Amino acid sequence: MKDETRLIHTRKGRGDRETVNPPIERASTVLFSTREALYGDLPTYGRMGLTVHRELEAALCGLEHATYAKLTTNGLQACALAVASVVKAGDHVLITDSLYGPTRRFCQRRLRAMGIESTRFDPLIGSEIGTLIQPNTAAIFLEAPGSLTFDISDTPAIVKVAKDRGILTILDNTWGAGVLHKPLDLGVDISIQALTKYAVGHADNMGGAVMTASKRLETKIEACSTDWGISLSPEDAYMALRGLRTLTTRLKQHESAGYTIANWLKTRPEVSQVLHPGLESHPEHEIWQRDFTGANGLFGVVLSETSTDQLDRFLEAFKLFGMGFSWGGYESLLIPCCDQLNRMKEDRIHDRSGPLLRIHVGLEHPDDLIEDLNQAFRVLN
Ligand SMILES: Cc1ncc(COP(=O)(O)O)c(C=O)c1O
Repeated sequence: MKDETRLIHTRKGRGDRETVNPPIERASTVLFSTREALYGDLPTYGRMGLTVHRELEAALCGLEHATYAKLTTNGLQACALAVASVVKAGDHVLITDSLYGPTRRFCQRRLRAMGIESTRFDPLIGSEIGTLIQPNTAAIFLEAPGSLTFDISDTPAIVKVAKDRGILTILDNTWGAGVLHKPLDLGVDISIQALTKYAVGHADNMGGAVMTASKRLETKIEACSTDWGISLSPEDAYMALRGLRTLTTRLKQHESAGYTIANWLKTRPEVSQVLHPGLESHPEHEIWQRDFTGANGLFGVVLSETSTDQLDRFLEAFKLFGMGFSWGGYESLLIPCCDQLNRMKEDRIHDRSGPLLRIHVGLEHPDDLIEDLNQAFRVLN
């Protein structure tokens, strides 16, 4: 089955009478009628998740070609759980320089406090990653595309080196949402999604998931999650599953409107660079084309030289684009993001001639969004 169909038909074993959607069981306590059942295989406590969690996990496994999915309270917790599950004191982790900032902070601050060092690497390093591997390197943490600068790593090349050296690979697949990119098919060991973004899709709920197709890694992730008491509320799990029903349809609209806006921005004199991996002008467009099946509505824009005053007037002029963190919801967003960059050195694809913006193209009509951008550029000028 295709993703579109699978995400709609997640319910197993239809009885004589059944609701289309799974029930939300609000529970800490689950009652059993025998001692044997109390200590049996069924979930015995709310923290383990109940019916709706199992259905969401199965849907995510179907999307990511995984055999196991662990649900978390948010995407950052999923990133932290994934890496913490597979390292121990004395280990070393390689992290892409365009890793989502809070995940990088988790590695550099929390993992360090646990005796695990991390080193950043250039996202465009490819098979040269081998030169950074230390005897104690346990994992390589990738993100596709990289946060804010939308660089595309050669994941298969990095995975090949990692496999040859017995090192695990972890990839934050939030941009691909499990639909546009299938990291486990490329040999990545663990895929992660912030369900908060496109899965939920309505900016009203948070969640995360860690997925793998390895039994050995499943055991490790399950143990770490159990020890930390990680869980997702049934309401939040329900909302993520609800979002998955329309995920592929929404993504197609985000993608097409995203291309329309990105191509229009390329024609503007106020714009120096559009960082959209689906455009031929993107330096890693060919790698993206090989490894992804489509785009969404999130990309970067570098303005031409712009003063702080001009930038402020521009940002405050928008009537439809909102200025706020996150993305993947139905609404369009635009933020300045130079302040978040914190890169180890100048990234190779971002020309830095002016302020860097991140645009999320929502489900509004692209004509209205272009009009909004147009009037904001008039104010900038
Ligand atoms: C690529 C990526 N991964 C992870 C996260 C974290 O997700 P959450 O906000 O649900 O913790 C984000 C949030 O912006 C993100 O952009």
